[in-house]
Amino acid sequence: MAALMPEMQAAEEIDMSDGFVLSDNILKNDINDNKFDSAYSYKASKSLNDLDLFTRGQPFDFYRELREKAPIYFHQPMPTDPEPGYWVLTKYEDIKYVSMNPKIFSSQYSSGNLLTLGNEENRHPKLFKSTIDHMLNLDGEMHLGLRKEHMPFFKPGHVEELQKKVSIKVTELLDAIAPMGECNLVHHVSQQLPIFTLSEILGIPEGDRQKLVSWMEFLELAQYFTYEMIKEQNEGKTDSTPDPAMIEMFNAMVDEMFDYGRFILKEKRKNPSDDLLSAIANAEIEGEKLTDEFLDGSWLLIIFAGNDTTRNTMSGGIKLLHENQGQKELLMQDTALLPNFIHETIRCVSPVIHMRRTSLEETEISGQRIGPFEKISLWYGAANRDPDIFENPNEFNILRENADKHLAFGIGRHTCLGKPIALMQLKEFYSQFLTRFKDFELNGDWKVAPNNFVHAIQEMPIKFTPE
Ligand code: HEM
Repeated sequence: MAALMPEMQAAEEIDMSDGFVLSDNILKNDINDNKFDSAYSYKASKSLNDLDLFTRGQPFDFYRELREKAPIYFHQPMPTDPEPGYWVLTKYEDIKYVSMNPKIFSSQYSSGNLLTLGNEENRHPKLFKSTIDHMLNLDGEMHLGLRKEHMPFFKPGHVEELQKKVSIKVTELLDAIAPMGECNLVHHVSQQLPIFTLSEILGIPEGDRQKLVSWMEFLELAQYFTYEMIKEQNEGKTDSTPDPAMIEMFNAMVDEMFDYGRFILKEKRKNPSDDLLSAIANAEIEGEKLTDEFLDGSWLLIIFAGNDTTRNTMSGGIKLLHENQGQKELLMQDTALLPNFIHETIRCVSPVIHMRRTSLEETEISGQRIGPFEKISLWYGAANRDPDIFENPNEFNILRENADKHLAFGIGRHTCLGKPIALMQLKEFYSQFLTRFKDFELNGDWKVAPNNFVHAIQEMPIKFTPE
């Protein structure tokens, strides 16, 4: 066990005086291998680094194995990863404890969302920096300051106003599929609604909104491209190595996405209006406007966080209802169950697969000793099926009394800001969809992207009696 003592100072001491570029600072920080042995002798049968494992839905059986055999498990890194491995947390209370103690478990020291910073040659020049330079990766006052700028757009009055527009949009989307009798729900509805809602909050002109749909599709594949690049370095080309034209297209999409983000944010800086992008563009941290890097990062965070999560919950809920006809009947008979059905759906789907923190000092989690500057990953889907909290956790039960106790939105100071917007969209979608397409069924296989960060459903074929 190597125990490298990082030369880096604690997160609060990071020097921001020459502008607000967290990604440059983070690269100076070292991450340690586990200083203490695991309290469990168990050796995992699978690897959470294996993205293929996630293309059949989340590996809930494997989560159960981890939770039962080694609830705090030291996982090996990806081959060629210059960083050591990471602790995997699968128990509800442990994940809650880490999330609620940001002074010990930092989001800023080495990112709150990336399992690894990887090595230089595998870092995408633009995506890498922007996956770091945003509020999800900040601690302390800087995090609170930036979060505060976003808050007015997620308050009840704003959400109610938005709900009226969302309701009309849902009707429009369902009108379009009604005569077809079958469709790919993702393409026609789940993908479209969050883009619409987010564009309304952000203030993106109508003519530009479809671009967001293609950017999202490519972003979901970003992790796969990096993974395949590393595989190619180790094993040479394989059947799954992406074709160079695909990589070129991916890079062009990324460029377009950031060029657009910078353009629109700069426009909103000059001519602000009452929308979230204007608030981000004009936000000040420690008296300074956000740097270009932080504008890129905040742009990426908001379009990714606001889209994929709700989109995958929408499709995931439809699959759950198809597979649990008794629950579907219950819901159809009593629409007052809709809010609890939505909580139970989010619990079961858990669209954000994990987040990450870094220990800033020697500490302990449920008896497991952890050294300073070690990586800790929080697996929400595992916490949400912890039998100590949820009775018969694998059962989809819309009458479950504590369904809303799930951790899918995180907990603590980084708790999802978009939660009220997500719940409102899901309610509008399911209430209208279930009224109009009572006899819907799945109509073929679903397709899930190889991704262990978000559960990204790319295809969900359905059929129903046409209207
Ligand atoms: C079902 C839908 C959603 C789920 C499950 C979800 C989940 C999450 C999770 C797990 C976190 C991180 C919590 C942590 O690190 O402790 C998060 C943060 C965040 N989410 Fe969501 N999200 C959803 C929808 C949305 C929507 C619709 C928006 C915006 C419109 C949004 C915006 C954000 C933002 C800005 C953050 C960063 C908050 C911070 O760092 O303070 N999310 N979300």
